[in-house]
Amino acid sequence: MSEPFRIGMIGYGFMGRAHTNAYKRVGDFFSDLALRPVLQAACGRKADAVKAFADGWGYASCETDWRQLVARDDIDAVDICVPNNMHKEIAIAAAAANKMILCEKPLAMDVAEGEQMCQAVESAGVANMVWYNYRRIPAVTLAKALIDEGRLGKIFHFRTNFLQDWTISGEVPQGGAGTWRLDSSAAGSGVTGDLLAHCIDTALWLNGSIADVSAMTETFVTERLHAETGEVQPVGIDDACTFMCHFKNESLGLFESTRYARGHKALYTFEINGERGSLRWDLHDLNRLEFFDYTDDSLVRGWRSIHVTEGEMPYMDRWWVPGLSIGYEHSFVHQVADFLKGLETGEPSQPDFRSALETQSVCDAVLKSADSKAWVSVA
Ligand SMILES: NC(=O)c1ccc[n+]([C@@H]2O[C@H](COP(=O)([O-])OP(=O)(O)OC[C@H]3O[C@@H](n4cnc5c(N)ncnc54)[C@H](O)[C@@H]3O)[C@@H](O)[C@H]2O)c1
Repeated sequence: MSEPFRIGMIGYGFMGRAHTNAYKRVGDFFSDLALRPVLQAACGRKADAVKAFADGWGYASCETDWRQLVARDDIDAVDICVPNNMHKEIAIAAAAANKMILCEKPLAMDVAEGEQMCQAVESAGVANMVWYNYRRIPAVTLAKALIDEGRLGKIFHFRTNFLQDWTISGEVPQGGAGTWRLDSSAAGSGVTGDLLAHCIDTALWLNGSIADVSAMTETFVTERLHAETGEVQPVGIDDACTFMCHFKNESLGLFESTRYARGHKALYTFEINGERGSLRWDLHDLNRLEFFDYTDDSLVRGWRSIHVTEGEMPYMDRWWVPGLSIGYEHSFVHQVADFLKGLETGEPSQPDFRSALETQSVCDAVLKSADSKAWVSVA
């Protein structure tokens, strides 16, 4: 018999929907879990809109003030799916109210905020997690398993990029619904905290800590109309960011992200080169992991494309039959399942706030390096 795990969802945009979908599906596909999510309350500022979301997706109730939601005693966990500048205040209030917290990435606007959030959850002793969901795409999880088995040997290179093209026009406003990512007061940074944070989290997970970085950023459109003030204002975010780094295992890293790569909507790739082999992955073909194994017989040695759908591959015993694919949304289902399993076993699922703070430290170092045009050590 499973116990209810009552969710209070704050925000009902892109991630509010992705997480809600995961809460609805996880119990059916991970039926052995002792806890089962219950859609207890959804929160948004506009009463009509949040009611429509709650009714449509099956939430039992609504709130228009997140403080009311956090104060309710019929909520076990608060899910933070709002712009980055709100993460800290909500997380600290939720920890004080003894709620578990599932927070969207990036953890915070900067390391100083993130540190306060870590201290809040650690002193309250509440379970916490950050939604770096790409770790839970089975092909990416398989990459981690192969690296941990030593199949690549010593790692030399890690290269990754995350490319989009939706802000090239100067007509795109900053601020407000849908375009808060272009407003530095809501987002903190541009592609660094939004897109590269994913690449950094995956890199730290697969290849260990980063020692230092040398970065450059560019803001191609320097003024935009602000959707809330109605005024043309300077743009404070980075439109593009490229950095190189040393990992602590002595390998070299190369990271690139932009929203000005015409033709690319969400091209997220990584490649790792080691002494014994290489791995590469591409979000556009997310069920495949490419693997070059130098220990193969030389007559048949070459890149192989592994279709990650066999039952013994990560998470795939929960879904269909070998050969049939799953998608982006399943990474969130897997993340909820791992979080709930972590509550059962007492082994917290990762990344928790403290672990996600390391990604924030790299982001801060990247922005500092771009600003100073110097190598910066990661704190
Ligand atoms: N894990 C991922 O891959 C991923 C993908 C996209 C976004 N994100 C992160 O998720 C968070 C939300 O992004 P999104 O794309 O869902 O944004 P969105 O613009 O689609 O949705 C934001 C939501 O927050 C609500 N909101 C804003 N201010 C509020 C307030 N004061 N009280 C209550 N609700 C408020 C908005 O009404 C909206 O429902 C961000 O931190 C973002 O970085 C993560």
